[in-house]
Amino acid sequence: MTEQPLLLRTRRDGVWLWTLNRPDKLNSLDQAMVDALHQALDEAAGDPDVRCVILTGAGRAFVAGADIAQLRQRRHADALRAINAGLLDKLARLPVPTIAAVNGFALGGGCELAMACDLRIATEAAKFGQPEVGLGIMAAAGGTYRLPALVGLGMARELLFTGRIIDATEAARIGLVNRVVPASELLDVAWDLAREIARADPLAVRMSKAALAQHTPGGPALMAFESTAQAVLFESPEKFRRMDAFLARKAERAARKAAEES
Ligand code: COA
Repeated sequence: MTEQPLLLRTRRDGVWLWTLNRPDKLNSLDQAMVDALHQALDEAAGDPDVRCVILTGAGRAFVAGADIAQLRQRRHADALRAINAGLLDKLARLPVPTIAAVNGFALGGGCELAMACDLRIATEAAKFGQPEVGLGIMAAAGGTYRLPALVGLGMARELLFTGRIIDATEAARIGLVNRVVPASELLDVAWDLAREIARADPLAVRMSKAALAQHTPGGPALMAFESTAQAVLFESPEKFRRMDAFLARKAERAARKAAEES
């Protein structure tokens, strides 16, 4: 069997569609996925003919966060390397507009990935949230500055302190997504939007994005603050306990199923 690439890439005229393709793990961001996205972003950033990039997920998730098995192993030095934050910073700084076509779970780093895009369209089944606090860590890939920029500090505090997961209707109501569409129309709507952008003068669009970047938070100081706080949390016993509990679910479910069948 041929191994499927982690990132499927389709190009029509100047528009890229990138599909994160690790559906069995709900497209969670492991190092290989991070590397694949870096490579795609580097290529797109250096290509003057690119007009827009659409990101979506294969299967029932957009991205269910960073890979918890890998997060479990990361220590304070890894947090300071800002693995996911660095990726999302590069995405946010891509000179052309980006559209997150959110087809399902957008949790943790997945919600942060969607927020690092310029525009967000979601299906009715999409779910959003920053559940990190339940795992003994915090949103540290831009969540503490991109979420308040979109939904306001009050709502951002509620979502970041509780880890609550919200549906697409609620996400649209608070300004986290631009619009909600039926699942069958998601990619058509995203392509139409991308084509609309691609019909405009490319340089004028790039300049508009650069000007808007002056109003969007990010940059080394905010990234460093998040990474330093996360470095402390990455060493806490509670992080290990909570992540071990998540990872043990698979074994528990298999044991329960076997017991039911016997
Ligand atoms: N990292 C690693 N693996 C993940 C993952 C993540 N963030 N999210 C889901 N997966 C894996 C599951 O472990 C499972 O793998 P398995 O079949 O080998 O056991 C597979 O993806 C399917 O997920 P599952 O939990 O069985 O689906 P569900 O429909 O019961 O629940 C979620 C869906 C999204 C609610 C649940 O997967 C979840 O809570 N994921 C973690 C979300 C999160 O906390 N993200 C932030 C991380 S910082």
